[in-house]
Amino acid sequence: MVQSMLLLILTITAVSAEQHQHQHDDPSITATMEQFSGYAIHEPHSFQLTSLSVDAQGLQNQIDELAALSDSPAPSVTRVLFTDKDVLGRRYVKTQMELAGLSVREDAVGNIFGRWDGLEPELAAVATGSHIDAIPYSGKYDGVLGVLGAIEAIRVLKRSGFKPKRPLEVISFTSEEPTRFGIGCLGSRLLAGSEDLANALKTTTDIQNISFLDAARSAGYGKNEDDLSSVFLKKGTYSAFVELHIEQGPILEDEGISIGIVTAIAAPASLKVEFEGNGGHAGAVLMPNRNDAGLAASELALAVERHVLDSGSIDTVGTVGILELHPGAINSIPSKSHLEIDTRDIDEERRNQVVEKIHQSAIKITKTRGVRLSDFRVINQDPPALSDEAVIKAVETATRELNLTSKLIISRAYHDSLFMARLSPMGMIFIPCYKGYSHKPEEFATIQDMSNGVKVLALTLAKLSSQ
Ligand code: GLV
Ligand code: MN
Ligand code: MN
Repeated sequence: MVQSMLLLILTITAVSAEQHQHQHDDPSITATMEQFSGYAIHEPHSFQLTSLSVDAQGLQNQIDELAALSDSPAPSVTRVLFTDKDVLGRRYVKTQMELAGLSVREDAVGNIFGRWDGLEPELAAVATGSHIDAIPYSGKYDGVLGVLGAIEAIRVLKRSGFKPKRPLEVISFTSEEPTRFGIGCLGSRLLAGSEDLANALKTTTDIQNISFLDAARSAGYGKNEDDLSSVFLKKGTYSAFVELHIEQGPILEDEGISIGIVTAIAAPASLKVEFEGNGGHAGAVLMPNRNDAGLAASELALAVERHVLDSGSIDTVGTVGILELHPGAINSIPSKSHLEIDTRDIDEERRNQVVEKIHQSAIKITKTRGVRLSDFRVINQDPPALSDEAVIKAVETATRELNLTSKLIISRAYHDSLFMARLSPMGMIFIPCYKGYSHKPEEFATIQDMSNGVKVLALTLAKLSSQ
């Protein structure tokens, strides 16, 4: 019943879209012929829920093929921005987009767009997508599902005979992960018009002192540009953005629910901190005479944990994911230390308080340990993003029509959607993943769950592109 109603609605939309287009050609002739015959003179585009067939095994094969483009051994995946493996991965995605009949374009930082022009190509498109870069020793589904799964969703719609009114676009975003240049969601942040990032990237280098622009050029991007504002998109470029992603948490699997409908994305912040002390011989320098930059860093790491726990909320989290000591010899007291700290919360104000407390602790440690705080930089301190009500509704309806269980859920991980929300109404579709594992090789999603996610995405795109 629900299915036939949807078929009717989508058929009507498709018919009216087609009529609309023909009216551009010659409205009077079309209208007159239809009045006389009593029938629409053009076949309506038939689009049936029953014909939403996902090639789930094909999708799994593609995910496996992409995972093989890795700088670490299987089952882990390492694919860092603008490395040879990333360039090969990009080629793989572009080929898949072309095979799906999408027209491909890339911008100066390597965001890849695959477009299916709708019946009214001048309308704002509905976009979907995610990322294919993978942090060191991670898994094969994070981001990749939202790119290859989105291309499969386009194939599903094409196979079903559906023709979108609005154009549909699949986006593979550049560097959602902060691995190489220290900033997450680089591509989507720029698309959303971050002047700060466009400026910062002129002088940003990686750990090997390769500049962002040189790295981009070596991968075939940003050829004559040092001004990256060409990447910015206007608000209104997209009428909606929807991202498909594994949950990266355990809730859906624990509760046996097929689809998570994201209501909000938590607010992430990242910090870079450096201490300088006095190095020296690990045997000869007595303990009272030390200014150990390594111990300063260790103390700050513990302070991060304390401040996070003191917030009293389970939603506040903090991680010291990078801790480097110089010169890095067992028998040498660390003279310098470098920490990178990630802290997040669904409550922006509470997250900001943690950032401030970390700063105060770093200052205090310089006094107690006689070291210098040579750098304390807030790399990003982003607000959370809320999903759009209409996009949530579209996903909810699609899920219900497909007879899948769902629940509203918060995303504690960040995603390109955090920034796409600045450009257009945004929503996200989560599927369960094994034990909630992510950012490690054990990351896994079943073919059935991926197939469900692709179906929900396809139907959501169909609805949003018909509006
Ligand atoms: C994205 O990968 C994140 O760290 O949330
Ligand atoms: Mn990730
Ligand atoms: Mn991701």
